[in-house]
Formats: sequence, structure tokens, C-alpha cells
Amino acid sequence: MRVMIIGAAGMLGAKLSKQIAAGAVPGATELTLVDRVAPDPVTSVTCTSHAADLGAPGTAEELAALKPDLVFHLAAVVSGQAEAEFDTGYAVNLDASRALFEALRASGTQPRVIFASSLAVYGPPFPDVVPEDFGLRPASSYGTQKAMTELLLADYSRKGFLRGTSLRLPTVSIRPGLPNAAASGFLSGILREPLVGQTANCPVPDDTKVWIASPDITVAGLAHAAALPWEHIAPHPVLNLRGICVSVGEMLATLEAEAGADARALVTHDPDPAIARIVQSWPEAFVTDTAEALGFPVNGGFASILREYQAEFAAAP
Ligand SMILES: NC(=O)c1ccc[n+]([C@@H]2O[C@H](COP(=O)([O-])OP(=O)(O)OC[C@H]3O[C@@H](n4cnc5c(N)ncnc54)[C@H](O)[C@@H]3O)[C@@H](O)[C@H]2O)c1
Repeated sequence: MRVMIIGAAGMLGAKLSKQIAAGAVPGATELTLVDRVAPDPVTSVTCTSHAADLGAPGTAEELAALKPDLVFHLAAVVSGQAEAEFDTGYAVNLDASRALFEALRASGTQPRVIFASSLAVYGPPFPDVVPEDFGLRPASSYGTQKAMTELLLADYSRKGFLRGTSLRLPTVSIRPGLPNAAASGFLSGILREPLVGQTANCPVPDDTKVWIASPDITVAGLAHAAALPWEHIAPHPVLNLRGICVSVGEMLATLEAEAGADARALVTHDPDPAIARIVQSWPEAFVTDTAEALGFPVNGGFASILREYQAEFAAAP
């Protein structure tokens, strides 16, 4: 099976590439990695790496001509940048997605498409726990672009042009590497930076609750969706992935319990109303019965997320 990951140089894409190389998607024999900069190839499967801008004229057609059986569409401008750069957000998150779906349609091969959507498709006011049939009311350009792409993918699937599933990912934490332009970036920074002795700012009140999943569990969810028989997942064109609800204060308490009071003391608390407005416009917890019934994985709690990160990236305290 030919698998393509678009956005493969990103945090989730790079991890997904490695998991697929390790056998996470049964039957994957060829892997094509695509991003603006050529992603690092993986071993164990036949792997090719392409530097390409999905939004550039002709790129989507070139990728579709490779006739992938399964496409993970992870390429995106993240929330903070999409809010600050209106035109860029729509060009990448909506127009390039439409170009991809249209090119795959024209290829006539009906590939499986897994699209990384987001809980940002929702907007306030929220109930304490958001039900699966809650209406879409995005409160950011990013959320609006994700919602529109979900609808496009569902309609292209309904018409039989391709076989798509949109997965609304929780906020992924703890994200390794450098800070990015996501409004949620501090949800990783307030753990990642103190674990290596650096300061980090928490721009929202401690009682702010968030819905998160670890990178490994998120990528396992993407792979699980692809591995499910189509007839099992086809009735669910959009799924909320499983996450855990945790407050920022609980995250910091876990940091202190696992890494000590010195690490916790490295976190400052300068409010940032712009970030707080975006993050507090996202729901805190969801019903995810359908994802659970379909066997999607979930983290055991925030301490296990912190330990997962430490085992992979940070020096033990
Ligand atoms: N990380 C999270 O918390 C989170 C939560 C919900 C949804 N998502 C979604 O999951 C996907 C992956 O997230 P991530 O955290 O790995 O993001 P990331 O920013 O690390 O990776 C996205 C990748 O897309 C690439 N890209 C952007 N525009 C492109 C274009 N025009 N052509 C080709 N490549 C392009 C970027 O170069 C980048 O490598 C994104 O669609 C994101 O919106 C992420």
C-alpha cells in the first residue's frame, strides 16, 4: 500500500512517519513524505521525500499522480499564525486542502484520506462536557478553516471521490522542539522548558482547563483510523479523538511532583489576553464514545504524558 504524509516534516508528521515505518499501518509498503522542506526519510519501508508547497500551482496534481492509497493530510498553518495572517491561513488551510481533494478526485483512485482537524472548530458558550453532536461555531480563523475542510472532505467522500475521515485532535502536549506559533504553544513550553532548566511563561490563569493528548497517543490515533476497515469508520466522517481534561494548575503541580519545586519555580505568570482569549474559546472536555467504541487510544493521565516526554526527550531530573 502506498502511503503519503503531507506535512511530514512537522511534529506529528515526523512521528507518524516513524510509527508507520515501525508497522503502525498494516500493509504500508511505500511511504511518500511531503513538506515545504524535504522531510527526513525513514527506513524499514521504501521511502521517498519531497520538498513541495501543497498550495503552489500543480503540486496537488503531482502528488495525486503518485496514486497514493492512503493520504495523511497534516499540512497546516497553526492557530496563532492563521489568526495573525488571514490570507496565509486561508491559502494553506483551506485552498490547498481543496486543491488536494480535487486532484485526488481527478486521479479516480478513491484513496483513503485522514485529515488532521482540531477542537478549534467549536466555539463558546460550551457545556462542561461537549457532546458528539455539538454544533460548529469556530471562534478563530484556524477553526473556521478546519471546519470548512472537514465539510469539504465529507462531501467529497459522500460523492465517492475519495474515502475521507477528519479527526479532531486534542491539543497535543508535550510538544518537543522549539516553540511554534500555535496559541496553545505554552501548554508544552511550561513543561518542556523547565525540564531543561529554562524559564517559561504561562499566559493564562491556573484554573484554565484544556483537552490534551500526548504526541505518541495522537499519532497512534491517526494510524488507528487508517488501519480500521473502511466499513467500520465510513459512517463517521468526523471523529473527536480521545483526550484528557486537565487544568494548567494540575499540569504545573505534576511538573513539581515529577521534576521538583525548582522546575516549577521557572514558570512565570504574565497574562497574555490575546492567547487567553483563543485558548479559553476552546472546549475543556468532550464525549468521545464513538472513538472509544472504535478502539482509539487514550492517555492514562497527565503524569503519564510527562513521563512519556521525559523518557523520549528530557534528561531525568
Ligand atoms: N499539534 C497540535 O496540538 C494539533 C492539534 C490539533 C490539530 N493539529 C493539526 O495537526 C496537523 C499537524 O500538526 P503539527 O503539530 O505536526 O504541526 P506542525 O506545524 O509541526 O506541522 C505542520 C507541517 O505542515 C507543513 N506545511 C505547512 N504549509 C504547507 C504547505 N503549503 N505545503 C506543504 N507543507 C506545509 C509545515 O511545513 C509543517 O512541517 C496540523 O494540520 C494541525 O493543524 C495539531
